[in-house]
Amino acid sequence: MILVTGATGNVGGDVLAELVEAGHDVRALTRHPERAKLPPGAEVVRGDLSAPETLPAALAGVEAVFLYAVPGSASAFVRAALDAGVRRVVMLSSIAVRDDVEVQSNPIGAYHAEIENAVAASGLEWTFLRPGAFATNVHQWAAQVKAGDVVRLAFPDAATAPIHEADIAAVGVRALTEDGHAGAKYPMTGPESLTHRDQVRIVGEAIGRPLRVEELPPDLAREQMLTRVPAPVVDSLFAMMRASVGQEAYVIDTVEKVLGRPARTFAQWAADHADDLR
Ligand SMILES: NC(=O)c1ccc[n+]([C@@H]2O[C@H](COP(=O)([O-])OP(=O)(O)OC[C@H]3O[C@@H](n4cnc5c(N)ncnc54)[C@H](OP(=O)(O)O)[C@@H]3O)[C@@H](O)[C@H]2O)c1
Repeated sequence: MILVTGATGNVGGDVLAELVEAGHDVRALTRHPERAKLPPGAEVVRGDLSAPETLPAALAGVEAVFLYAVPGSASAFVRAALDAGVRRVVMLSSIAVRDDVEVQSNPIGAYHAEIENAVAASGLEWTFLRPGAFATNVHQWAAQVKAGDVVRLAFPDAATAPIHEADIAAVGVRALTEDGHAGAKYPMTGPESLTHRDQVRIVGEAIGRPLRVEELPPDLAREQMLTRVPAPVVDSLFAMMRASVGQEAYVIDTVEKVLGRPARTFAQWAADHADDLR
């Protein structure tokens, strides 16, 4: 049995779907089974990584776990996993984690590193997926795209190499179901460096309607993001965006190395999600 946490999310959802499709015994953990839309074929368990008392039932009979990173949840998860006889953990971490420092300098790296460290120290077999910027971050603009032809955003010339969630998931499925990935830390990006402006153009092409970018002052964009995201994380994201203006984003071919085919392009992502953006 494989337990997928984050199963209602972008990446965990694709991990779950791929495992079910391949015929594996899969259990999906969610805090809200009543509203979760999960594929038939997956067993569903109510659970919360921040509520350790929910973990024994979720982990009973489980050999491998796809682990979503919930801050502060690591030591209770590791104890429960060892008690349940789990063998393998594949964690959705972040490219922000640095291996060359004792103390992580940014809060995104710090909370993922705390969980990585607890898993690595546990004796469980582990693989850490460390993706960079997700293509799904475009959903932040979805309401604007649906409402009109103008997308207002800060740092239009900031560059990332957006990765398709299905590629992260596919690498995760390999690590969950095959040998040969134990102890691997997989930094992962999409195949090409694109600015936010490029991404808006490509979304416009996918939905068949040209979109125009208007630059938002960073302070205003920061205020908007603060309504959804903690301040240290917002500040860290803004610092990364500011630093990437006019730069080529880092691109690495991990997806191709693991899967034996190139990572999906952002144009492919936009085509896959065009109906959600129209
Ligand atoms: N966006 C990026 O550019 C980027 C880049 C690198 C790394 N990451 C990392 O990737 C992760 C986000 O992945 P995603 O986009 O697939 O997630 P998502 O779509 O935002 O979904 C969040 C998932 O987490 C689950 N969850 C939240 N709190 C939980 C808890 N206490 N116990 C159990 N489950 C909980 C939710 O499940 P229920 O609500 O159903 O319980 C849901 O399935 C984050 O760790 C992020 O830091 C993101």
